[in-house]
Amino acid sequence: MSDIQGLERQIQDAIAGAADEAALEAVRVSALGKKGSISELLKSLGAMSPDERKANGPLFNTLRDRVAGAIAARKAALEERALDARLAFERVDVTLPVRPESVGTIHPVSQAFDEVVAIFADLGFAVAEGPDVEYDDYNFTKLNIPPDHPARQMHDTFYVAKQADGSQHVLRTHTSPVQVRTMLKQKPPIRIISPGRTYRVDSDATHSPMFHQFEGLVVDEVTHLGHLKWVLEEFCKAFFEVDSVVMRARPSFFPFTEPSVEWDLRCDRSGGQIKFGQGNDWLELAGSGMVNPRVLENCGIDSTKYQGYAFGGGIDRLAMLKYGIPDIRSFFESDLRWLRHFGFAALDIPTLDGGLSR
Ligand code: PHE
Repeated sequence: MSDIQGLERQIQDAIAGAADEAALEAVRVSALGKKGSISELLKSLGAMSPDERKANGPLFNTLRDRVAGAIAARKAALEERALDARLAFERVDVTLPVRPESVGTIHPVSQAFDEVVAIFADLGFAVAEGPDVEYDDYNFTKLNIPPDHPARQMHDTFYVAKQADGSQHVLRTHTSPVQVRTMLKQKPPIRIISPGRTYRVDSDATHSPMFHQFEGLVVDEVTHLGHLKWVLEEFCKAFFEVDSVVMRARPSFFPFTEPSVEWDLRCDRSGGQIKFGQGNDWLELAGSGMVNPRVLENCGIDSTKYQGYAFGGGIDRLAMLKYGIPDIRSFFESDLRWLRHFGFAALDIPTLDGGLSR
């Protein structure tokens, strides 16, 4: 009897003294493992007389249970201690000042994105999004550009390998598929703006294979081209932070709008700096038009009842103009000196009342 008490005390001391999980495991093996001291005791029951077994069986079994319980409790305590130590070690003091060398800046394209969204949000537009890898159907067919239509050649498309079900995906060549996505899931009235990445096989000082566009779409029962002109004018005044602009409409063609109009902005580039609302130069601003009734029908909207306009333009080009950046490729070279020079302070979120670009 006293032997057993001595053995238990010795094991319990070892459990309490185990400094980590490995030491505790060694104690467990020496007591409860195949050749452990308590396992040996339990084995010895087999050689005992029935009376001895009756007396010792419950003793040995409860001893085993107490030891197993103590090991489990110690294990939990050690785990908790390890977690506490890790938490203390990995603690981050969020009140510490940022190291000066690691202060990041907002990329001019992101800044222009936020400015475009702030301006259109103020005009009552909601932001809509779509994926970069788009269905061929949404990028082209539903926009009234069927397979083999010559307009597909205007877009130097990056095609993605065919899917198992035979469907074709592309890297979207414009943000116009977001029009399709919006009309498929939302009934008019619709008023959305959608800035995002777009891709075309093209690269020089004014073209990048990945670039950014913003798309606008309004569909209801009364909206007409006059509304479109006013909205674009308001946008230009707010974006370029000038009191007035002069816009010129040129007839154009897009399969998804009818009629189609391209807009230019009067500007003056004579003084090395660009000025809007004066001068004799014209700057391409956006493609646009009244949404083609066929596109409305392709997206399940009754074209005898609803109408609206759509527009789309390049964000990188807007940012180049506004911030005096001559080469579109520099946007994507990740040159730290360039980023520090053209980047914006992270907390200067553009708003119409707070100022767009400070
Ligand atoms: N998606 C056209 C482009 O990329 C622009 C556009 C958008 C034209 C909406 C008309 C209406 O050139």
